[in-house]
Amino acid sequence: TDTVINQNKADAHRCDLLIHNVSLATMDYETSDSASPYGQLEDGVLAVTAGRISWVGAAAEAPEFDAIEQIDGQQGWLTPALIDCHTHLIYGGSRAREFEMRLQGYSYQEISQQGGGIVSTVRATRAASEQELFASGLKRLQRLMAEGVTTVEIKSGYGLDWPTEQRMLKVAGQLAEHTGIEIKRTFLAAHAVPPEYKDRADDYLDLVINEMLPQVAEHNLADAVDVFCEGIGFSHAQTERLFKAAQQYGLPVKGHMEQLSDLKGSRLAAEFNALSVDHLEYLAEEDLPALKAANTVAVLLPGAFYCLKETKLPPVQALFEHQIPVAVSTDLNPGTSPIASLLLAMNQSCLLFGLTPEQALAGVTCHAAQALGLQDRKGQLQVGYQADLVLWSIDHPSELSYAINMHQPQQIWVNGQPRLN
Ligand code: NIG
Ligand code: FE
Repeated sequence: TDTVINQNKADAHRCDLLIHNVSLATMDYETSDSASPYGQLEDGVLAVTAGRISWVGAAAEAPEFDAIEQIDGQQGWLTPALIDCHTHLIYGGSRAREFEMRLQGYSYQEISQQGGGIVSTVRATRAASEQELFASGLKRLQRLMAEGVTTVEIKSGYGLDWPTEQRMLKVAGQLAEHTGIEIKRTFLAAHAVPPEYKDRADDYLDLVINEMLPQVAEHNLADAVDVFCEGIGFSHAQTERLFKAAQQYGLPVKGHMEQLSDLKGSRLAAEFNALSVDHLEYLAEEDLPALKAANTVAVLLPGAFYCLKETKLPPVQALFEHQIPVAVSTDLNPGTSPIASLLLAMNQSCLLFGLTPEQALAGVTCHAAQALGLQDRKGQLQVGYQADLVLWSIDHPSELSYAINMHQPQQIWVNGQPRLN
Protein backbone atom coordinates (compact mmCIF):
# COMPACT_ATOMS: atom_id res chain seq x y z
CA THR A 1 0.00 0.00 0.00
CA ASP A 2 3.00 2.32 0.38
CA THR A 3 3.18 2.48 -3.38
CA VAL A 4 -0.22 4.11 -3.69
CA ILE A 5 0.36 6.77 -1.06
CA ASN A 6 2.81 9.29 -2.31
CA GLN A 7 2.34 12.85 -1.29
CA ASN A 8 3.92 16.00 -2.66
CA LYS A 9 3.71 14.83 -6.23
CA ALA A 10 2.59 17.50 -8.58
CA ASP A 11 0.91 15.05 -10.92
CA ALA A 12 -0.60 12.94 -8.16
CA HIS A 13 -4.36 12.42 -7.95
CA ARG A 14 -5.39 14.96 -5.34
CA CYS A 15 -8.22 13.93 -3.08
CA ASP A 16 -9.81 14.69 0.27
CA LEU A 17 -9.95 11.12 1.49
CA LEU A 18 -8.17 7.94 0.51
CA ILE A 19 -9.22 4.55 1.85
CA HIS A 20 -6.73 1.77 1.25
CA ASN A 21 -5.79 -1.70 2.47
CA VAL A 22 -9.41 -2.69 2.07
CA SER A 23 -11.58 -4.98 -0.06
CA LEU A 24 -14.33 -3.28 -2.02
CA ALA A 25 -17.85 -4.59 -2.61
CA THR A 26 -18.59 -2.12 -5.41
CA MET A 27 -22.05 -3.57 -6.19
CA ASP A 28 -21.70 -2.41 -9.80
CA TYR A 29 -21.32 -5.96 -11.06
CA GLU A 30 -24.29 -5.65 -13.36
CA THR A 31 -22.57 -3.12 -15.57
CA SER A 32 -18.99 -4.35 -15.25
CA ASP A 33 -17.50 -6.86 -17.70
CA SER A 34 -16.37 -9.22 -15.00
CA ALA A 35 -19.00 -11.32 -13.35
CA SER A 36 -17.26 -11.07 -10.00
CA PRO A 37 -19.66 -11.43 -7.09
CA TYR A 38 -20.43 -8.22 -5.20
CA GLY A 39 -18.37 -6.43 -7.89
CA GLN A 40 -15.58 -7.25 -5.51
CA LEU A 41 -12.05 -5.94 -5.62
CA GLU A 42 -9.78 -7.49 -3.07
CA ASP A 43 -7.04 -5.09 -2.04
CA GLY A 44 -8.78 -2.03 -3.44
CA VAL A 45 -8.42 1.69 -3.14
CA LEU A 46 -11.10 4.34 -3.09
CA ALA A 47 -10.56 8.09 -3.29
CA VAL A 48 -13.07 10.83 -2.48
CA THR A 49 -13.01 14.39 -3.79
CA ALA A 50 -15.63 16.99 -2.90
CA GLY A 51 -18.00 14.38 -1.51
CA ARG A 52 -17.91 12.16 -4.59
CA ILE A 53 -15.96 9.01 -5.38
CA SER A 54 -13.11 10.20 -7.60
CA TRP A 55 -11.17 6.97 -8.05
CA VAL A 56 -11.96 3.34 -7.34
CA GLY A 57 -10.05 0.22 -8.30
CA ALA A 58 -7.39 -2.30 -7.46
CA ALA A 59 -4.37 -1.12 -5.45
CA ALA A 60 -2.11 -2.61 -8.10
CA GLU A 61 -3.55 -0.26 -10.73
CA ALA A 62 -3.86 2.83 -8.56
CA PRO A 63 -2.15 6.09 -9.49
CA GLU A 64 -0.22 8.12 -6.98
CA PHE A 65 -2.46 9.98 -4.58
CA ASP A 66 -2.07 13.25 -2.78
CA ALA A 67 -4.65 12.80 -0.05
CA ILE A 68 -5.61 15.18 2.74
CA GLU A 69 -6.71 12.22 4.87
CA GLN A 70 -5.88 8.55 4.64
CA ILE A 71 -7.75 5.67 6.19
CA ASP A 72 -6.20 2.24 6.58
CA GLY A 73 -9.07 -0.20 6.12
CA GLN A 74 -7.09 -2.92 7.93
CA GLN A 75 -8.22 -5.46 5.38
CA GLY A 76 -11.87 -5.01 6.16
CA TRP A 77 -14.59 -4.45 3.56
CA LEU A 78 -15.91 -1.21 2.17
CA THR A 79 -19.50 -1.22 0.87
CA PRO A 80 -21.84 1.45 -0.38
CA ALA A 81 -23.76 2.80 2.61
CA LEU A 82 -27.07 1.00 3.06
CA ILE A 83 -30.41 2.30 1.79
CA ASP A 84 -33.74 1.50 3.44
CA CYS A 85 -36.23 2.17 0.65
CA HIS A 86 -39.56 1.46 2.43
CA THR A 87 -40.31 2.62 5.97
CA HIS A 88 -43.19 4.02 8.00
CA LEU A 89 -40.92 5.12 10.84
CA ILE A 90 -42.91 8.21 11.86
CA TYR A 91 -45.95 7.24 13.94
CA GLY A 92 -47.57 7.63 17.32
CA GLY A 93 -48.32 4.88 19.82
CA SER A 94 -47.47 1.21 19.70
CA ARG A 95 -49.25 -1.92 18.56
CA ALA A 96 -47.80 -4.30 21.13
CA ARG A 97 -51.30 -5.21 22.35
CA GLU A 98 -52.26 -6.17 18.83
CA PHE A 99 -49.21 -8.38 18.75
CA GLU A 100 -50.73 -10.20 21.71
CA MET A 101 -54.03 -10.57 19.84
CA ARG A 102 -52.31 -11.99 16.81
CA LEU A 103 -50.52 -14.48 19.02
CA GLN A 104 -53.98 -15.55 20.24
CA GLY A 105 -54.91 -16.32 16.65
CA TYR A 106 -56.61 -13.19 15.31
CA SER A 107 -55.48 -12.31 11.79
CA TYR A 108 -54.21 -8.92 10.57
CA GLN A 109 -57.44 -8.53 8.55
CA GLU A 110 -59.66 -9.44 11.52
CA ILE A 111 -57.91 -6.93 13.76
CA SER A 112 -58.19 -4.31 11.06
CA GLN A 113 -61.93 -4.96 10.65
CA GLN A 114 -62.39 -4.51 14.41
CA GLY A 115 -60.97 -0.99 14.33
CA GLY A 116 -57.40 -2.03 15.06
CA GLY A 117 -54.55 -2.20 12.63
CA ILE A 118 -53.53 0.85 10.66
CA VAL A 119 -56.45 2.85 12.03
CA SER A 120 -55.33 2.42 15.64
CA THR A 121 -51.96 3.93 14.74
CA VAL A 122 -53.87 6.70 12.95
CA ARG A 123 -55.62 7.61 16.21
CA ALA A 124 -52.32 7.74 18.09
CA THR A 125 -50.55 9.67 15.33
CA ARG A 126 -53.29 12.29 15.08
CA ALA A 127 -52.95 12.78 18.85
CA ALA A 128 -49.16 13.16 18.71
CA SER A 129 -47.49 16.56 18.45
CA GLU A 130 -44.87 17.42 15.89
CA GLN A 131 -42.22 17.25 18.62
CA GLU A 132 -43.38 13.82 19.79
CA LEU A 133 -43.37 12.44 16.25
CA PHE A 134 -39.91 13.89 15.68
CA ALA A 135 -38.48 12.45 18.90
CA SER A 136 -39.83 8.93 18.43
CA GLY A 137 -39.03 8.92 14.71
CA LEU A 138 -35.48 10.04 15.41
CA LYS A 139 -34.90 7.12 17.78
CA ARG A 140 -35.96 4.63 15.13
CA LEU A 141 -33.97 6.38 12.44
CA GLN A 142 -30.86 6.32 14.61
CA ARG A 143 -31.22 2.55 15.02
CA LEU A 144 -31.14 2.19 11.24
CA MET A 145 -28.24 4.61 10.91
CA ALA A 146 -26.19 2.74 13.51
CA GLU A 147 -26.07 -0.16 11.03
CA GLY A 148 -24.74 1.96 8.19
CA VAL A 149 -27.98 3.20 6.62
CA THR A 150 -27.54 6.73 5.22
CA THR A 151 -30.54 6.99 2.90
CA VAL A 152 -34.07 6.29 4.07
CA GLU A 153 -37.51 6.51 2.55
CA ILE A 154 -40.25 7.57 4.98
CA LYS A 155 -43.96 7.44 4.23
CA SER A 156 -46.86 9.43 5.57
CA GLY A 157 -50.09 7.47 5.89
CA TYR A 158 -50.92 7.43 9.59
CA GLY A 159 -52.74 10.76 9.47
CA LEU A 160 -55.37 10.22 6.80
CA ASP A 161 -56.33 13.82 7.31
CA TRP A 162 -54.46 16.76 5.89
CA PRO A 163 -53.10 18.28 9.12
CA THR A 164 -51.57 15.00 10.24
CA GLU A 165 -50.36 13.87 6.81
CA GLN A 166 -48.69 17.25 6.43
CA ARG A 167 -47.19 16.98 9.93
CA MET A 168 -45.68 13.59 9.12
CA LEU A 169 -44.11 14.88 5.90
CA LYS A 170 -42.79 17.92 7.73
CA VAL A 171 -41.23 15.77 10.46
CA ALA A 172 -39.58 13.63 7.77
CA GLY A 173 -37.96 16.80 6.45
CA GLN A 174 -36.85 17.78 9.95
CA LEU A 175 -35.28 14.36 10.46
CA ALA A 176 -33.24 14.83 7.28
CA GLU A 177 -32.08 18.22 8.40
CA HIS A 178 -31.25 17.04 11.91
CA THR A 179 -29.32 13.94 10.91
CA GLY A 180 -27.75 15.14 7.66
CA ILE A 181 -28.76 11.96 5.86
CA GLU A 182 -30.94 11.88 2.74
CA ILE A 183 -34.61 11.15 3.33
CA LYS A 184 -37.03 10.52 0.51
CA ARG A 185 -40.59 11.39 1.50
CA THR A 186 -43.55 9.44 0.18
CA PHE A 187 -47.17 10.58 0.36
CA LEU A 188 -49.28 7.61 1.49
CA ALA A 189 -52.64 9.13 2.41
CA ALA A 190 -54.16 6.21 0.48
CA HIS A 191 -53.00 3.81 3.19
CA ALA A 192 -56.40 3.06 4.73
CA VAL A 193 -59.88 4.55 4.81
CA PRO A 194 -60.14 6.70 7.94
CA PRO A 195 -62.98 5.95 10.41
CA GLU A 196 -64.86 9.14 9.54
CA TYR A 197 -65.11 7.92 5.92
CA LYS A 198 -66.13 4.36 6.79
CA ASP A 199 -67.77 2.74 3.75
CA ARG A 200 -67.06 5.89 1.73
CA ALA A 201 -63.63 5.05 0.35
CA ASP A 202 -64.26 6.93 -2.90
CA ASP A 203 -65.21 10.09 -1.04
CA TYR A 204 -62.01 9.84 0.98
CA LEU A 205 -60.04 9.31 -2.21
CA ASP A 206 -61.64 12.47 -3.61
CA LEU A 207 -60.26 14.30 -0.59
CA VAL A 208 -56.81 12.81 -1.13
CA ILE A 209 -56.78 13.64 -4.84
CA ASN A 210 -58.53 17.01 -4.83
CA GLU A 211 -57.42 18.52 -1.54
CA MET A 212 -54.23 16.87 -0.32
CA LEU A 213 -52.32 15.98 -3.47
CA PRO A 214 -52.36 19.53 -4.90
CA GLN A 215 -50.80 20.79 -1.64
CA VAL A 216 -48.17 18.05 -1.68
CA ALA A 217 -47.25 18.96 -5.25
CA GLU A 218 -47.38 22.71 -4.84
CA HIS A 219 -45.23 22.79 -1.72
CA ASN A 220 -42.93 19.96 -2.78
CA LEU A 221 -43.72 17.93 0.31
CA ALA A 222 -43.11 14.48 -1.16
CA ASP A 223 -40.99 12.70 -3.77
CA ALA A 224 -43.51 10.00 -4.64
CA VAL A 225 -47.09 8.80 -4.13
CA ASP A 226 -47.87 5.40 -2.60
CA VAL A 227 -51.03 3.35 -2.01
CA PHE A 228 -52.14 0.22 -0.17
CA CYS A 229 -53.92 -1.65 -2.97
CA GLU A 230 -55.74 -4.38 -1.05
CA GLY A 231 -59.12 -5.60 0.18
CA ILE A 232 -58.55 -3.70 3.44
CA GLY A 233 -57.07 -0.76 1.54
CA PHE A 234 -57.95 0.58 -1.92
CA SER A 235 -59.27 -1.22 -4.97
CA HIS A 236 -57.61 -1.54 -8.36
CA ALA A 237 -59.92 1.15 -9.79
CA GLN A 238 -59.22 3.50 -6.88
CA THR A 239 -55.50 2.91 -7.20
CA GLU A 240 -55.69 3.76 -10.89
CA ARG A 241 -57.50 6.99 -10.08
CA LEU A 242 -54.80 7.97 -7.59
CA PHE A 243 -51.98 7.10 -9.99
CA LYS A 244 -53.55 9.18 -12.76
CA ALA A 245 -53.75 12.16 -10.43
CA ALA A 246 -50.15 11.70 -9.27
CA GLN A 247 -49.05 11.50 -12.88
CA GLN A 248 -50.73 14.81 -13.64
CA TYR A 249 -48.58 16.41 -10.97
CA GLY A 250 -45.47 14.69 -12.28
CA LEU A 251 -45.04 12.66 -9.10
CA PRO A 252 -43.67 9.13 -9.45
CA VAL A 253 -45.80 6.32 -8.05
CA LYS A 254 -45.21 3.11 -6.12
CA GLY A 255 -47.48 0.73 -4.27
CA HIS A 256 -48.05 -1.79 -1.51
CA MET A 257 -49.09 -4.50 -3.92
CA GLU A 258 -50.22 -8.10 -3.68
CA GLN A 259 -49.44 -8.38 0.05
CA LEU A 260 -52.57 -10.30 1.08
CA SER A 261 -54.26 -11.05 -2.26
CA ASP A 262 -53.74 -10.60 -6.00
CA LEU A 263 -55.53 -7.42 -7.09
CA LYS A 264 -53.21 -6.95 -10.11
CA GLY A 265 -51.84 -3.81 -8.52
CA SER A 266 -48.33 -4.54 -9.74
CA ARG A 267 -49.45 -4.78 -13.34
CA LEU A 268 -51.27 -1.46 -12.95
CA ALA A 269 -48.20 0.09 -11.33
CA ALA A 270 -46.10 -1.03 -14.29
CA GLU A 271 -48.47 0.83 -16.64
CA PHE A 272 -47.55 3.97 -14.71
CA ASN A 273 -43.81 3.16 -14.74
CA ALA A 274 -43.83 2.87 -10.98
CA LEU A 275 -40.54 3.21 -9.14
CA SER A 276 -41.33 0.08 -7.17
CA VAL A 277 -43.94 -2.44 -6.18
CA ASP A 278 -43.59 -3.67 -2.63
CA HIS A 279 -44.51 -6.84 -0.65
CA LEU A 280 -45.62 -9.09 -3.60
CA GLU A 281 -46.45 -12.32 -1.76
CA TYR A 282 -49.47 -12.88 -4.04
CA LEU A 283 -47.88 -11.56 -7.25
CA ALA A 284 -48.55 -13.88 -10.22
CA GLU A 285 -45.67 -14.90 -12.45
CA GLU A 286 -47.62 -13.83 -15.52
CA ASP A 287 -47.29 -10.21 -14.36
CA LEU A 288 -43.51 -10.19 -14.23
CA PRO A 289 -42.82 -9.27 -17.89
CA ALA A 290 -44.79 -6.03 -17.39
CA LEU A 291 -42.64 -5.12 -14.37
CA LYS A 292 -39.50 -5.89 -16.31
CA ALA A 293 -40.60 -3.76 -19.24
CA ALA A 294 -41.38 -0.84 -16.93
CA ASN A 295 -38.03 -1.17 -15.14
CA THR A 296 -39.93 -1.25 -11.85
CA VAL A 297 -38.10 -2.51 -8.76
CA ALA A 298 -39.60 -5.37 -6.74
CA VAL A 299 -39.18 -4.52 -3.06
CA LEU A 300 -39.27 -7.53 -0.73
CA LEU A 301 -40.31 -6.95 2.88
CA PRO A 302 -39.44 -10.14 4.74
CA GLY A 303 -39.99 -8.49 8.13
CA ALA A 304 -43.73 -8.12 7.44
CA PHE A 305 -43.84 -11.68 6.10
CA TYR A 306 -42.17 -12.87 9.29
CA CYS A 307 -44.27 -10.85 11.73
CA LEU A 308 -47.56 -11.85 10.08
CA LYS A 309 -46.40 -15.48 10.03
CA GLU A 310 -47.26 -15.41 6.32
CA THR A 311 -46.72 -18.66 4.46
CA LYS A 312 -47.33 -17.52 0.87
CA LEU A 313 -43.93 -16.72 -0.60
CA PRO A 314 -43.39 -13.99 -3.19
CA PRO A 315 -42.26 -15.42 -6.56
CA VAL A 316 -38.64 -14.72 -5.73
CA GLN A 317 -36.83 -17.03 -8.13
CA ALA A 318 -39.08 -15.92 -10.98
CA LEU A 319 -38.26 -12.27 -10.21
CA PHE A 320 -34.58 -13.09 -10.62
CA GLU A 321 -35.21 -15.17 -13.74
CA HIS A 322 -36.96 -12.18 -15.31
CA GLN A 323 -33.99 -10.02 -14.25
CA ILE A 324 -36.19 -7.66 -12.31
CA PRO A 325 -34.16 -5.62 -9.81
CA VAL A 326 -35.01 -6.86 -6.32
CA ALA A 327 -34.65 -4.60 -3.29
CA VAL A 328 -34.95 -5.53 0.39
CA SER A 329 -36.27 -3.22 3.07
CA THR A 330 -37.36 -3.22 6.71
CA ASP A 331 -40.91 -1.87 6.15
CA LEU A 332 -40.30 -0.45 9.64
CA ASN A 333 -43.84 0.15 10.97
CA PRO A 334 -45.70 -0.44 14.24
CA GLY A 335 -48.12 -3.06 12.93
CA THR A 336 -46.60 -5.60 10.61
CA SER A 337 -42.87 -4.99 10.92
CA PRO A 338 -41.60 -3.37 14.13
CA ILE A 339 -38.06 -4.00 12.96
CA ALA A 340 -35.43 -1.27 13.02
CA SER A 341 -32.67 -3.36 11.47
CA LEU A 342 -31.87 -3.51 7.78
CA LEU A 343 -29.20 -6.14 8.44
CA LEU A 344 -31.90 -8.34 9.98
CA ALA A 345 -34.07 -7.79 6.90
CA MET A 346 -31.14 -9.01 4.79
CA ASN A 347 -30.83 -12.11 6.96
CA GLN A 348 -34.59 -12.71 6.70
CA SER A 349 -34.52 -12.25 2.93
CA CYS A 350 -31.98 -15.07 2.71
CA LEU A 351 -33.58 -17.47 5.18
CA LEU A 352 -37.25 -16.81 4.40
CA PHE A 353 -37.11 -15.88 0.69
CA GLY A 354 -34.02 -17.71 -0.52
CA LEU A 355 -31.94 -14.74 -1.59
CA THR A 356 -28.19 -15.18 -1.69
CA PRO A 357 -26.23 -12.85 0.60
CA GLU A 358 -25.05 -11.11 -2.55
CA GLN A 359 -28.63 -10.54 -3.73
CA ALA A 360 -29.51 -9.30 -0.24
CA LEU A 361 -26.67 -6.76 -0.26
CA ALA A 362 -27.67 -5.63 -3.77
CA GLY A 363 -31.18 -5.32 -2.35
CA VAL A 364 -30.10 -2.71 0.20
CA THR A 365 -27.62 -0.88 -2.04
CA CYS A 366 -27.88 -0.62 -5.84
CA HIS A 367 -31.44 -1.92 -6.15
CA ALA A 368 -32.73 0.06 -3.18
CA ALA A 369 -31.20 3.14 -4.81
CA GLN A 370 -33.15 2.39 -7.98
CA ALA A 371 -36.37 1.99 -5.98
CA LEU A 372 -35.88 5.62 -4.91
CA GLY A 373 -34.74 6.88 -8.32
CA LEU A 374 -31.21 7.38 -6.98
CA GLN A 375 -29.41 4.77 -9.07
CA ASP A 376 -27.23 7.35 -10.81
CA ARG A 377 -25.60 8.62 -7.63
CA LYS A 378 -26.11 6.11 -4.82
CA GLY A 379 -25.83 2.43 -3.99
CA GLN A 380 -22.58 1.63 -5.79
CA LEU A 381 -18.88 2.34 -5.45
CA GLN A 382 -18.38 4.01 -8.80
CA VAL A 383 -16.56 7.13 -9.87
CA GLY A 384 -18.92 10.09 -9.69
CA TYR A 385 -21.19 8.48 -7.13
CA GLN A 386 -21.78 10.11 -3.75
CA ALA A 387 -19.27 8.97 -1.17
CA ASP A 388 -21.76 7.35 1.18
CA LEU A 389 -19.64 4.49 2.46
CA VAL A 390 -19.40 1.94 5.23
CA LEU A 391 -16.23 0.23 6.42
CA TRP A 392 -16.88 -3.13 8.07
CA SER A 393 -14.37 -5.25 9.89
CA ILE A 394 -15.52 -8.51 8.32
CA ASP A 395 -13.79 -11.22 6.29
CA HIS A 396 -16.42 -11.39 3.57
CA PRO A 397 -19.60 -9.47 2.69
CA SER A 398 -21.72 -12.58 3.25
CA GLU A 399 -21.12 -11.91 6.98
CA LEU A 400 -23.63 -9.07 6.77
CA SER A 401 -26.51 -11.41 5.92
CA TYR A 402 -25.27 -14.36 7.94
CA ALA A 403 -24.86 -13.00 11.45
CA ILE A 404 -27.60 -11.37 13.53
CA ASN A 405 -26.63 -8.39 15.69
CA MET A 406 -22.95 -9.23 15.42
CA HIS A 407 -21.66 -6.44 13.21
CA GLN A 408 -21.62 -2.73 13.41
CA PRO A 409 -19.84 -0.42 11.05
CA GLN A 410 -16.25 0.46 11.80
CA GLN A 411 -16.76 3.81 10.10
CA ILE A 412 -19.52 5.53 8.11
CA TRP A 413 -19.11 8.38 5.63
CA VAL A 414 -21.89 10.55 4.24
CA ASN A 415 -20.85 12.60 1.22
CA GLY A 416 -17.26 11.84 2.16
CA GLN A 417 -17.71 13.21 5.69
CA PRO A 418 -17.13 10.81 8.59
CA ARG A 419 -20.08 10.21 10.88
CA LEU A 420 -19.62 9.39 14.50
CA ASN A 421 -21.31 6.12 15.21
O1 NIG B 1 -46.25 -2.14 4.78
N1 NIG B 1 -49.44 -2.92 4.13
C1 NIG B 1 -49.73 -1.85 4.59
N2 NIG B 1 -48.93 -1.04 5.27
C2 NIG B 1 -47.95 -1.47 6.19
C3 NIG B 1 -48.55 -1.88 7.45
C4 NIG B 1 -48.94 -0.73 8.20
C5 NIG B 1 -49.57 -1.06 9.53
O2 NIG B 1 -50.09 -2.18 9.74
O3 NIG B 1 -49.56 -0.12 10.34
C6 NIG B 1 -47.05 -2.52 5.63
O4 NIG B 1 -47.08 -3.70 5.99
FE1 FE C 1 -45.25 -0.66 4.13
